[in-house]
Amino acid sequence: MTKSNEYVFFKLGRNKELAEVEISTILEKVGINRKISYFQWKEFLFVKIEKKEEQKVLQKIRETGSIVKVGSCFAKCNSEIEVKKVIPDKINQIIEKFSGKKEKIKFSINLQIEKEKQKSFSEIVKNEILKIAKDKRVEVKIIPKKGYSLELSPYQYHKENMPKRGVELIIFGIKSKLYLGETKWVTNPFFDIKLDEGRPERLFTHGTSIKMARSLINLTNIKKGCKIVDPFSGTGTLLIVGLLQGYDVLGFEKDPRCVRVAKTNIRWAVDKYKLERSWKIYKNDARDMHKIISEKVDAVVTEPYLGPFLKTLPDLEEGKKIIHELEKLYAKVLYSCSQILKDDSRVVIIFPFYEYPDKTKLSINLERVINGLSLELVEKTLHFNVSFPISIGREHNIISRQIVILKKNSMKQ
Ligand SMILES: C[S@@+](CC[C@H](N)C(=O)[O-])C[C@H]1O[C@@H](n2cnc3c(N)ncnc32)[C@H](O)[C@@H]1O
Repeated sequence: MTKSNEYVFFKLGRNKELAEVEISTILEKVGINRKISYFQWKEFLFVKIEKKEEQKVLQKIRETGSIVKVGSCFAKCNSEIEVKKVIPDKINQIIEKFSGKKEKIKFSINLQIEKEKQKSFSEIVKNEILKIAKDKRVEVKIIPKKGYSLELSPYQYHKENMPKRGVELIIFGIKSKLYLGETKWVTNPFFDIKLDEGRPERLFTHGTSIKMARSLINLTNIKKGCKIVDPFSGTGTLLIVGLLQGYDVLGFEKDPRCVRVAKTNIRWAVDKYKLERSWKIYKNDARDMHKIISEKVDAVVTEPYLGPFLKTLPDLEEGKKIIHELEKLYAKVLYSCSQILKDDSRVVIIFPFYEYPDKTKLSINLERVINGLSLELVEKTLHFNVSFPISIGREHNIISRQIVILKKNSMKQ
């Protein structure tokens, strides 16, 4: 048995690659640039980092859009008997931390182990909790009440108010080992729903999702207080998420209706969330950004115009034409980006592609759109070896999308 504190576990969202890229970025942001040990097990990624680094990761994890849950391992055991030995210390700590409040202390038990073993582990943990609670004369609520194991969904986790009222304990049965962990953070869907549905105005055809906006901004790998630009700012989702995360934001948008909606929504968000960073939207074409602003910015981040709205896949010839037109637009916008970006700063952008039933793929030719520009492709993440571009699913079931990251390098022309 080792009382190991060194593994942090991340539950990855549906797009595992994107989640890994996001974790890699968070690790870089907190200064972890060395080679790290990690392994993936089912939808969890286990990463070995130090305790003080874990604290910093937890502070930054809110900036991600595709991570479901984060926690830390507190022991690695070989048998049930060893689990029985280490679990009381943890339960004592938790009771200590949450006692003194009127409400019951909540323990949720999440057993990521084979079905046949769940009953006995559940009983070990439940019995220890009840025994210690009785000794200490505190009231506890154990979740699930019936059955042996339940993974609380993010909705349930926040509905139960777990961050303030208790802890989810997890036992992972991985090969012959048992990793004991404690959940430290779970994504809060209620926050996003309030932000999404509370907005005074929406235009359904123009939105980037809040989660995607968060992921894209995270991938810029910039520090708080930096300035970001969305050249296709639409109804302003990305700008609002940027402000919420402590960045100054600029938007460019050529449709006056979108500009009006975005301004209304941003004013609402600034007021509701007491946002303090600066914002501005220009009613201009994204190709002209460099002619309009003279200052240099720290990142460009956007889900751009992805081509006309289509109900079915265009035939091959039509598809080629659309992609060709988009390449011309993106080449010009990227030229403008290269002019306004600080050196070493990033463009995080979504590019569309069409995928046909016979696997023919029509996509933006990256070399062609950045040819002659002082921008170069970021090819891999620092950690976990993920290659770009990464696919992120379809928009309206027709256009597939991928995330591309470019970096300004003024030495390259
Ligand atoms: C996918 S939406 C952008 C979503 C936005 N990033 C958000 O956070 O909600 C694309 C937007 O680009 C705008 N657009 C299209 N061509 C443009 C151009 N050349 N310059 C500026 N905006 C443009 C469209 O009016 C549309 O609002």
